[in-house]
Amino acid sequence: KHPLGRPEGAAPREIRAVGVAGAGLMAGQLALLLARSLRVPVTMRDLDDERARRGLDAVHAQVDRLRTQGRLDDRGAAALTDLLRVTTDVADLADADLVIEAVFEELDVKRQVLAELENVVGPTTVLATNTSALSVTQMAAGLENPERVVGLHFFNPVAQMPLVEVVRADRTDDATYATAFAIVHACRKTAVAVADAPGFVVNRLLVRLLGEVLGALEEGTTVADADRALAGMGLPMGPFQLLQLVGPAVAEHVLVTLRRDLGERYADSPGLARVVRDGRAFVTFEARPSASSPVDPAVGE
Ligand code: 3HC
Repeated sequence: KHPLGRPEGAAPREIRAVGVAGAGLMAGQLALLLARSLRVPVTMRDLDDERARRGLDAVHAQVDRLRTQGRLDDRGAAALTDLLRVTTDVADLADADLVIEAVFEELDVKRQVLAELENVVGPTTVLATNTSALSVTQMAAGLENPERVVGLHFFNPVAQMPLVEVVRADRTDDATYATAFAIVHACRKTAVAVADAPGFVVNRLLVRLLGEVLGALEEGTTVADADRALAGMGLPMGPFQLLQLVGPAVAEHVLVTLRRDLGERYADSPGLARVVRDGRAFVTFEARPSASSPVDPAVGE
């Protein structure tokens, strides 16, 4: 196995155009960040016109928000809008020096997307995956040039979260790995080198944390107090606010992957299943009333 950490001596590749596989929530945020940071054309690709259009609309709305917040002036917003494109044809990503995929969290889907990309891009185009928990090594297996695959795990909300987990797969070469670090640096974020292990570092912890907090809810703690407790511990956001942000279905998907790969300590979570079923973390979670731990009326809600 290669050592982890930015490789000394390997030159990063030049990035003159970027592709994003997918036009969903993470894909749009990534497209915007990369266009803003690298100042190169960024083309998102999704499967049909409807998804593509919705993706581009969402990115345009983000640009508009940046303008109204004063983070971009009119010229900056127009220049950024010019850099952002969308397509349904994978061949439109042929010129990209970097493609980051942010499609459905299913190994087979991601493998298929990478294989499709490999058919159209050059042999040294970096293929990055924004996977939350899947094995980058397995994702790259079967490609003609697996050495140009790397994990770049950005966090939600992408514009604000400073961290990126950089995942070196078994066959990632030094130039690809160095390029990954250079991209994170250009985005003014902090790259952390993590092993290609299920859930990397952050999701491995977050999912356990969430599972334990859901357990506390089963015992009678309220959502509001659980959020307050962890915000009081210095977390920037309560666990349920975070669950709402990430999306309960995404969290459950990560949990299922981790249980499969790391075993029963990622226990089945009826609480999370309920949240996923209802689609909302805050409103519909019903804790079992607990006589032994009554909620203090002064603080409970
Ligand atoms: N574009 C660019 N920058 C922006 C921005 C925007 N639209 N909006 C805000 N910012 C900047 C601000 O200027 C500020 O920068 P500064 O620190 O240099 O001044 C910084 O972002 C923070 O902005 P705010 O002060 O408005 O942010 P808050 O203090 O309210 O914090 C938060 C918001 C960053 C979202 C914080 O609540 C947080 O960190 N929450 C936790 C989120 C988290 O844990 N995410 C991970 C989810 S897990 C995941 O994604 C993994 C996946 O695989 C499932």
